[in-house]
Amino acid sequence: MARILITSALPYINGVKHLGNLAGSMLPADVYARFQRLRGHDVLYVCATDEHGTPAELAADAAGMDVRAYCDEQHDIQKRSGEGFSLSYDYFGRTSNAPNIRLTQHFADVLEAKGLIVERVEEQVFSIDDDRFLPDRYVEGTCPHCGFERARGDQCDNCGRLLEPTDLKAPYSKISGSKNLEVRETKHLHLVQTKMEARIRDWVDAATEWPSLAKSIAYKWLDEGLRDRSITRDLKWGVPVAHDGTPRPGFETKVFYVWFDAPIGYIGATVEWAEAGGGDWESWWRTDKGADDVTYVQFMGKDNVAFHTVSFPATILGSEEPWKTVDKLKAFNWLTWYGGKFSTSEKRGVFMDQALDILPGDYWRWYLTANAPEGSDAAFTWEHFQGLINSDLANVLGNFVNRITKYTASKFDGQLPAAGTPGENEAWMAAELDQRLPALVANMEAMEFRKAAAEVRAIWAAGNEYLTKAEPWVKYKADVDAAAVGVRTGLNLVALFGILAQPFIPVAAKKILDAVGVPEDRRSWNFDGPASDLLDALPHGLAITPPEVLFAKIEDAQLAEWSERFGGAPDA
Ligand code: 2FM
Ligand code: ZN
Repeated sequence: MARILITSALPYINGVKHLGNLAGSMLPADVYARFQRLRGHDVLYVCATDEHGTPAELAADAAGMDVRAYCDEQHDIQKRSGEGFSLSYDYFGRTSNAPNIRLTQHFADVLEAKGLIVERVEEQVFSIDDDRFLPDRYVEGTCPHCGFERARGDQCDNCGRLLEPTDLKAPYSKISGSKNLEVRETKHLHLVQTKMEARIRDWVDAATEWPSLAKSIAYKWLDEGLRDRSITRDLKWGVPVAHDGTPRPGFETKVFYVWFDAPIGYIGATVEWAEAGGGDWESWWRTDKGADDVTYVQFMGKDNVAFHTVSFPATILGSEEPWKTVDKLKAFNWLTWYGGKFSTSEKRGVFMDQALDILPGDYWRWYLTANAPEGSDAAFTWEHFQGLINSDLANVLGNFVNRITKYTASKFDGQLPAAGTPGENEAWMAAELDQRLPALVANMEAMEFRKAAAEVRAIWAAGNEYLTKAEPWVKYKADVDAAAVGVRTGLNLVALFGILAQPFIPVAAKKILDAVGVPEDRRSWNFDGPASDLLDALPHGLAITPPEVLFAKIEDAQLAEWSERFGGAPDA
């Protein structure tokens, strides 16, 4: 039994996340966590809300709330929406909670002792009209590298380059649009990343198990050359720059930069889990306390990769303490809305809470996994969504389960039939499984979720093809025993389909497995024996209860209504 630590990028606290956020970090992390649990491994999956920084302050202001009360409320909303999508976190913590504050201050102390943090007076953009220093993301202007006119002060979305706000040409405040900006001096703590460059490169070189997207982004940043980064900000809401409760002189009105404390939040959330009675957090994070046998897997969108392959490692490696570092880093491209960006203000795209208003979580989970933005960006369109749900879930899976369980109820007294001997159709089905199941497991291990979903779909389709060949309903009239073989095999396929569905669509999977009476301890993903065993695994005589309709088809009228409400094709 392996120990696998899984984290998904911590969602910002301000506002409900859209489907793209779900598709590119939390959902695949959950699919992977469920898969590894079903393989029998000891999995710890933690996440948290990323609560600090200006966006939270501004959002609280806009809501007329105190920032802490605002974060309390939003944390609960995000937690509930995670539940709606069946995200099986072992813990969903908060970066504003005490463990993360302690750890962040600890790392700062240690890094300073190692000579990696220094005080420097820097120039920062101050917005006179907003009466505040503008954080990097809130200064926009023209990218000095590619000329993109709406580059953010931390990074250019067009060429991907890392920027400082003062690099931008023709800057303006994103908060008010004001160009009435000036550069003022302010003292901040800087992380001397330049001293860490060789160490981080060696560490990236040694990371043999990162999928290619993560690795290529990491090298792009390293090749550009690391810069020292300021890790404090002139702000109220954040981790105080303090030591043992005493503010650092000159830093009374400053806090740590949100990107300094956020990734430490992975550890913080694990400490919260431990404090809530979960277990020993150090055995997951400290290599001197047992974490040397942990495999740590991170999930995130591609915009987060640099922070996880350079900035956070600078913190962790720089401390020279025995912290666990990431072993596999799975990054995602963007889920787009008809090829463009999701946008609340322009009414384009579905947000997590709205998605759950119109359909259960499983529908979204299946679509977003089967259409994961893995090799490239992937476009959400209502038409594609409808097509995929109706064919994969309603027709291929739902109908199969429905047809065979109902037929058992009507012709075999609701009992799994014992009679008859398997023949060539069953051998054909077993051969399909012998080939496809190992491929599926390999794709899941490799975190190739689109391919894994395609393999599951192919197995479901093969089951339908099997029933077409075996045609128990035709054979029943002349040879009940021959029909019994088809029904028995079909019911065992229902059980297998339910087992395979668990990581992807856990609510429907449970209904299926309950309908064919598969006990909890027989639901794991261990397919070691020959597949022919899987086709006769359920006890003969077992009582079968047809489940309620698993998936409703999406009608054209619904599609029209949703396109109207959330936007659809740009020219529609
Ligand atoms: O991009 C984001 O949504 C960030 N809130 C991710 C943070 S990941 C981690 F480092 F906390
Ligand atoms: Zn650029």
